[in-house]
Amino acid sequence: MYHSKISGVGHYVPENVVTNDDLSKVMDTNDAWIQERTGIQERRHIKKGDGNSTSIMGVKASEIALERARLKPDAIDMIVFATLSPDMYFPGGGVQVQEMMGMRTIPALDVRNQCSGFVYALSVADQFIKTGMYKHILVIGSENHSGGLDFTTRGRGVSVIFGDGAGAVVLSRSDKEGKGILSTHLHSEGKHKDELALQGPSTEHWVPEIIEENPQENIPYYPYMNGQFVFKHAVVRFSEVIMEGLTANNLQVDDIDLLIPHQANLRISQFIQQKFKLTDDKVYNNIQRYGNTTAASIPIALSEAWAEGKLQEGDLLVLAAFGSGFTWGSAMIRW
Ligand code: ACO
Repeated sequence: MYHSKISGVGHYVPENVVTNDDLSKVMDTNDAWIQERTGIQERRHIKKGDGNSTSIMGVKASEIALERARLKPDAIDMIVFATLSPDMYFPGGGVQVQEMMGMRTIPALDVRNQCSGFVYALSVADQFIKTGMYKHILVIGSENHSGGLDFTTRGRGVSVIFGDGAGAVVLSRSDKEGKGILSTHLHSEGKHKDELALQGPSTEHWVPEIIEENPQENIPYYPYMNGQFVFKHAVVRFSEVIMEGLTANNLQVDDIDLLIPHQANLRISQFIQQKFKLTDDKVYNNIQRYGNTTAASIPIALSEAWAEGKLQEGDLLVLAAFGSGFTWGSAMIRW
């Protein structure tokens, strides 16, 4: 059995900063409400004509990750691309990255697990490395939320939370036992699939039906979120899956050097931090600046934490995510 380690990290966010005050000009909301409930101060939105898309931002983040891993695109054996906001209904973003980065005809796999998409994608890549099939896998999380949100007052409960951006890591084969990805833990509970969902356009709700029905509420082509229900489940599942990872490795909460939770909502992260009695320096949050970037939130935060020198060799890094599906997961990583 081989071992896998993160050999490079990178992220990219669009330049266009959208503050809470900017949003309050187009819908009935305000800075105090948004900050109090979510901790978000601003987020990035792709601006029409700035040349960005989900796959293009994925490429920009990947180029940085590859450079830091000191690898050329030719060295990559597989792409795993996580997003809920692909450029096209099909094919997915993975093949677009393969083409744009001029890679060999390597496999490109798309992961659709929303907020836990990056942890799922990392886990998939980890299995391919550990079995010896591949040496270097590019794992990407990228989202263009602003292209698909309802920016009228009707959509304010959801649209103020989400932002655009991308993060990427290169996962590489390593011969160091006890280093790199120690374990990953994945779960789902589909009975809650309707509590946080975007229904269409899909084969169940195709375009003519949407146009014909033209509903005024719960529009199927905008995301729906039962916020309080999601909150209650998130705090339970985050805690469970972090404990599951620690237990599997005979580790304690005190062993955590850095926890990077999916940036769902600052209140959720703070709840977990308090529950585990972790000091501020042990939990990384950047949702204040980027909002919730779904599959991109963990790799963006990881890339920033790494650049700020918050990860030292030997540190125990814990990644944890929860989201639509519901799906959730964690990764235990010895840096
Ligand atoms: N600005 C101002 N008022 C708003 C806004 C807004 N952007 N959005 C909703 N409101 C209003 C509502 O209309 C409602 O008004 P009413 O009382 O007159 O009916 C009032 O604020 C309270 O609305 P709630 O939905 O009950 O607000 P809540 O306190 O639950 O906060 C929130 C909403 C922030 C979404 C909260 O439920 C939450 O934190 N949920 C966790 C889910 C989450 O963070 N998801 C992130 C994405 S999913 C993921 O990544 C896992």
